[in-house]
Amino acid sequence: MKQESQFSHVKQEWEKETEKTTERFPERKKDFKTSSDIPIDRLYTPEQESDSYIDKLGFPGQFPYTRGIQPTMYRSKYWTMRQYAGFGSAKETNKRFRYLLEQGQTGLSVAFDLPTQIGYDSDDPMAEGEVGKVGVAIDSLADMEQLFESIPLEKVSTSMTINAPASVLLCMYIAVGEKQGVPSEKLTGTIQNDILKEYIARGTYIYPPKPSMRLITNIFRYCQENAPKFNTISISGYHIREAGSTAVQEVAFTIANGIAYVDAALQSGMDIDQFAPRLAFFFNAHNQFFEETAKFRAARRIWAKIMKERYHAKNPKSWKLRFHTQTGGSTLTAQQPDNNIVRVTLQALAAVLGGTQSLHTNSRDEALSLPTEESARIALRTQQILANESGIADTVDPLGGSYYVEHLTNEIERKAMEYIEKIDTFGGAVQAVEDGYMQREIHQTAYDTQKRIEKKEEIIVGLNQFELEEEVNPDLLKVDETLEANQKERLTQIKASRDLDKVQDCLDRLGKAARNDSENLLPYILESVKAYATVGEICNVLREEFGEYTGI
Ligand code: 3HC
Repeated sequence: MKQESQFSHVKQEWEKETEKTTERFPERKKDFKTSSDIPIDRLYTPEQESDSYIDKLGFPGQFPYTRGIQPTMYRSKYWTMRQYAGFGSAKETNKRFRYLLEQGQTGLSVAFDLPTQIGYDSDDPMAEGEVGKVGVAIDSLADMEQLFESIPLEKVSTSMTINAPASVLLCMYIAVGEKQGVPSEKLTGTIQNDILKEYIARGTYIYPPKPSMRLITNIFRYCQENAPKFNTISISGYHIREAGSTAVQEVAFTIANGIAYVDAALQSGMDIDQFAPRLAFFFNAHNQFFEETAKFRAARRIWAKIMKERYHAKNPKSWKLRFHTQTGGSTLTAQQPDNNIVRVTLQALAAVLGGTQSLHTNSRDEALSLPTEESARIALRTQQILANESGIADTVDPLGGSYYVEHLTNEIERKAMEYIEKIDTFGGAVQAVEDGYMQREIHQTAYDTQKRIEKKEEIIVGLNQFELEEEVNPDLLKVDETLEANQKERLTQIKASRDLDKVQDCLDRLGKAARNDSENLLPYILESVKAYATVGEICNVLREEFGEYTGI
């Protein structure tokens, strides 16, 4: 009798696992068919059974996850349509959140203003001119309660793009959940909580690396014990790419940062399978369609091998790289903004064919301002058309097996691993960041790219070719100029209505705990936010204890 090949054996295992998965997430349709009534199978594999298929690609939902982290992927559940939003006051942003949810968005994503992101209250002189500008102004729990007014936190998952003060906003979110009667154990969402990419590319850091890594791993442990469904970090390549990196550098530097977080959590005494299942990632999607799709597939395979073979994680959930994608903000042009709808569509297509779990599509006007309601709606509709009309969600990893895509996947994996091994020689990402290595690599790439564009070796339609004589200025979102004054007035009232002794007592206890490395600071921050201590007051206590990082 023909020896059952490894391929057939693994395929049978996969089919069994898939049946189990479809109990919780049944497939969207009984029969998937093309418009010509051709049946669409769940997955297509090589006609010839081959062991290299198992090693390099495998089945979706199985190590090394090249073809996706779930056995049925979007046949069961579309990616989360999660539009990054936030501007002005909590009340205004709450209105935009509810609008997007009414329009069919399936997850929330909070953009905070810069003062909040860098731990200043709206009435701090450092906040002047920035209150509510690039995101929502959040000073205290009162603002957070308004932000989620009439939004049921047990039903929606929320991502928060917050890093240095991540612990403070996470505690505010937990406190709002409690006020809604939702225990922290039931909350779902993600806190970005990725300080290394802030040092490398984004810039909203406060404290030096050591205390920052402590705060990050404090969140890992606190969530593992109290909010096990919450993703504790979104290890981000998005901003590294926006700073000018290549696709390979984006994957390599992000994963190198991920390795540093794993090492820090292990050093804090946690077991790999206690925290790794709740690590998440965040990547960019730029214009080179096939390279972007291959980039995501390579990233999954690299991370799976690192977690299984380098860290010996046992739980398959620790091996899965789950990620959010945002289409490339830096690819948007201020010229002929409607052209950006086409760019975003291509980028979103690459992200979906690359197996993203969650997606933000940029709005056409974001090279000029925060998006208008109409532009944000078109961006969401782009995702809904891809999901419901294009057929790309009807079979798993449809580009799998393409000679070009598999070649690119292999090449990106190989070149990224060269960078990761180089960063290992520094002693890891923290040391490489302090040396400035990754920053130098990114700056060089950015410079080379800019030179190519100026020499027209790289064409950007509407920017360096096919320009228009006269640009038509679209309607843009205007942030209410009185916002800053109103927010400061609101903050004054909140501060006046608090039990000041209680606030001071909480802040003193936090300061004392911060001086003891073995303390987890989350419980102290949680009691402080519940007393309506502000983001600035809490962050200033930690500034006192940890100092401020002055950068490379
Ligand atoms: N079969 C079986 N189970 C499935 C499934 C399928 N086909 N599809 C989904 N599921 C399950 C998942 O396993 C999960 O269950 P679990 O939590 O019990 O495992 C559940 O359904 C939800 O699915 P996902 O976790 O895949 O989707 P989410 O949307 O909840 O989470 C994430 C996605 C990537 C893991 C998460 O970290 C996330 O949402 N990240 C978003 C980050 C974000 O929005 N960042 C924005 C930053 S903006 C910024 O920084 C840029 C600015 O600076 C300009």
